[in-house]
Amino acid sequence: MSKYGVAIRGIGVSIPEHIVWNDDLTGLVETSDEWITSRTGFKARRVVSGDQLVTDLAIESAKNALAYAGMQGEDIDLIIVASSTPDYIYPAACGVVQQGIGALKAFGFDMMMGCSGLIYALSTAVQFIENGTAKNALVIGADTHSRYTDWYDRNTCVLFGDGAGAFIISRHEKAGETDVLAVDFMLDGARGQEIKLPVNRDNCPLTTPRQNIEKSAIYMNGREVFKFAVGEVPRLMAETVKKAGLTPQEIDYYVLHQANARIMTAMAERMDIREEQMIVNLEHYGNTSAASIPLALYDALMSGQIKTGNTLVLCGFGAGLAVSTAVMKWNCVDHRTDAAPATLQTKSLEVV
Ligand code: ACO
Repeated sequence: MSKYGVAIRGIGVSIPEHIVWNDDLTGLVETSDEWITSRTGFKARRVVSGDQLVTDLAIESAKNALAYAGMQGEDIDLIIVASSTPDYIYPAACGVVQQGIGALKAFGFDMMMGCSGLIYALSTAVQFIENGTAKNALVIGADTHSRYTDWYDRNTCVLFGDGAGAFIISRHEKAGETDVLAVDFMLDGARGQEIKLPVNRDNCPLTTPRQNIEKSAIYMNGREVFKFAVGEVPRLMAETVKKAGLTPQEIDYYVLHQANARIMTAMAERMDIREEQMIVNLEHYGNTSAASIPLALYDALMSGQIKTGNTLVLCGFGAGLAVSTAVMKWNCVDHRTDAAPATLQTKSLEVV
């Protein structure tokens, strides 16, 4: 049995300014706004430019989550960054975030689990809180796939966008209570090659060079990943809801990784979920990998769709191939005192 319960304390997001519309991509590859919209639901995506790093987005999302929670960087004692598109293999991004927010006493680590990374990281942080090792954890999902995309491969270049999202979770003040009701995972390494991003570094002069160096850009077998997602994700979500001691009728909203609008429609049909229960904001951001769940949740909170007291299923899926789920009560209080910030969607339209 867990020593402590977990409270969700804050959420924050960050997206780059630069927008790439579907039509912008027609100059690079043979594609169309109609194809991209009908096959994926994406209309635009944000991409970093200049010297902007994935850790810059991560730090901004962390600062926003701290403001939401009414906390300071120094309150944080654990940082987990989920990212599969690091600027450096090491030092880990968690150390850069530690310095960026002044969480100088925090320990941390990074996690590379593709699009399921954020929920893997969140669930791991939950264990650290439950067993008493940490009191206030910062969990970030941040990815800049634009830096790893072959912009002349139409199979992948239309899919991804950059962004970051962060949660702060803490030891629950009330003994015996928790906001995170259940977590669960699955991993199928046998299908791992269906999405891959090879690291192409062969600098060792001491041995025979490798003969089969793979291109260092995202490869995805979209059809196989689609089948995997529609098959495995509903199964794991249903099991996690059961594990939480709930029935599907007690779930208010599903906040899933924003990989493809058709995947979400197929899942909703399979699970008998009403359209309005499925949170969808992918139109504006593309697939932002580890960042997509907090980005979708944040937009739904700011628009008033998700409210305090709602019960949520969060689910990430993708590279691995892997799935991770969490069932939680949204009891988080927004401590920001400034006028209610615009939803990200509104902001994105203003920039155009
Ligand atoms: N524009 C025009 N045509 C295209 C494009 C494009 N951008 N991309 C592919 N096509 C063509 C293909 O070449 C193919 O042509 P062909 O029939 O002549 O061979 C045709 O369109 C159909 O291609 P499919 O790959 O079968 O298209 P599909 O309907 O499956 O859609 C997609 C592709 C959007 C990638 C879809 O399969 C998908 O969303 N898959 C799941 C993605 C996902 O869940 N990812 C998880 C996370 S990623 C991570 O973890 C990092």
